[in-house]
Amino acid sequence: MVEPEPSVLRSSPARRAHWEAIYAARPEDELSWHQGRPGLSLRWIRRYAADRASRIIDAGAGSSRLAPWLWQAGYRNLIALDISRAALDRARAHAEQVGARVTWLVRDLARPCRLGPVDLWHDRAVYHFMVRDRDRTTYLENVRRALVPGGIAVVASFAPDGPSTCSGLPVRRYSGRELAGSFGSGFRLLATRRERHRTPWRAVQPFTYVVLRRTSARAGPPLRAGTGARRRHRR
Ligand SMILES: C[S@@+](CC[C@H](N)C(=O)[O-])C[C@H]1O[C@@H](n2cnc3c(N)ncnc32)[C@H](O)[C@@H]1O
Repeated sequence: MVEPEPSVLRSSPARRAHWEAIYAARPEDELSWHQGRPGLSLRWIRRYAADRASRIIDAGAGSSRLAPWLWQAGYRNLIALDISRAALDRARAHAEQVGARVTWLVRDLARPCRLGPVDLWHDRAVYHFMVRDRDRTTYLENVRRALVPGGIAVVASFAPDGPSTCSGLPVRRYSGRELAGSFGSGFRLLATRRERHRTPWRAVQPFTYVVLRRTSARAGPPLRAGTGARRRHRR
């Protein structure tokens, strides 16, 4: 049987409907990206955002367990964002099991979003769906607006030899240098790593991870009380 060509979803309602349908139809063990413990993300967040007051956003969190793991590591300023409400409902159920308090946001990152200030932006397997220039530009504007100067982005995409599609959508694959380069001159590459992710059915998917530091900034949105970001800005 010939697989249909994956097509780019051009509107926000189409993207939302697509992902809501995925989460409505598939249990966790049918989601290729599922991780019981997001080990590399946790390691790097603990290394590069050692201050437990850091405000951390998991952008495109899906039903990930990252937020509850971070809560258990002592982080108390957590945001999980996704285009799919059903995904976040699942994530919330995991978080509740450990009593984690998380801010849940249903947003489309290919649309302008006011999210900051955050100290650390985490994205595993979301940016690579931005295959159109305009979607990447909008996404990156969102990151730049949200991240404080000196803030950290931990971003993971499929590697050059990874799958070319995911969930019926085309993806863009990156080496570490390409991923860092795509974020542009306002970011400095601190670290990169290749990871051979095992899907729940034990297939291998090569990922590229990067850690980037925000080196230059435009004026961001007003600071909110009680964030690690605010304390650092006051110094
Ligand atoms: C491959 S999953 C990865 C989920 C999670 N980061 C993880 O590693 O388990 C991609 C996620 O990105 C979300 N997503 C896709 N496009 C999005 C967009 N434009 N804005 C926000 N979330 C999006 C999907 O709903 C899905 O939960």
